[in-house]
Amino acid sequence: MNELKLAIFDLDGVIVDTAKYHYLAWKRLAQELGFDFTERDNERLKGVSRMRSLEILLAVGGQQKTEEEKLHLAAKKNTWYVEYIMQMDASEILPGVLPFLQALKANKITIALGSASKNARTILERVGITSFFDVIVDGNLVTKAKPDPEVFTLGAQLAGVPPQSAVVFEDAQAGIEAALRAGMTVIGVGDPQLLQGAHHVIPGFSSFGFDEFLDIFITASCANDCQGAKSRLE
Ligand code: BG6
Ligand code: MG
Repeated sequence: MNELKLAIFDLDGVIVDTAKYHYLAWKRLAQELGFDFTERDNERLKGVSRMRSLEILLAVGGQQKTEEEKLHLAAKKNTWYVEYIMQMDASEILPGVLPFLQALKANKITIALGSASKNARTILERVGITSFFDVIVDGNLVTKAKPDPEVFTLGAQLAGVPPQSAVVFEDAQAGIEAALRAGMTVIGVGDPQLLQGAHHVIPGFSSFGFDEFLDIFITASCANDCQGAKSRLE
């Protein structure tokens, strides 16, 4: 019988909208390299690692660089990105996220971060929510990028929870695939047309409460007898 024990959050696009800062920094790099990079192009970078993002950007501009040049360009982009995120504060937490984190704590659900970003800890600090997280897995801890399940599998391991007791919140297709491969329940955050395979998709956390969360977990994780999942709360 599966019991709901762990919520794992992606960061960019789920807790905060940092995609706009990634975009500004990548666009600036593209301009410096002599080509344009559109918001539509930027969609392809969501959930994708920094180096893979750079490769996509260079392909958009039809440019080839050596490994050394790529490292230099990625570092440059990151310097600009960090300048943006250092300006962030609590006002940038997406609507409904804070009350939902509080509800998880009140219901004794372990909270983890599962992000590809090497800047994840800085962002959590800037917006003031680090203390909510029992476990933080970021781009510095994992070797394989989403859709590899490593980021979520490690999160569950560090929390001491089996994958079938975990629910992942993700806004990127690569992340949804990673969570499914980890054997977890996955809730997409965003447009259901764009997020394939998630057990459920919500537009955001604005009107999302703990009861709905529990219902989604129960529906996704136990086909027959669901008393086990509910009983811990009774
Ligand atoms: C993901 C973002 O969370 O982190 C990607 O969705 C980003 O767009 C990736 O490329 C890596 O982030 P960072 O901060 O390590 O460059
Ligand atoms: Mg994301």
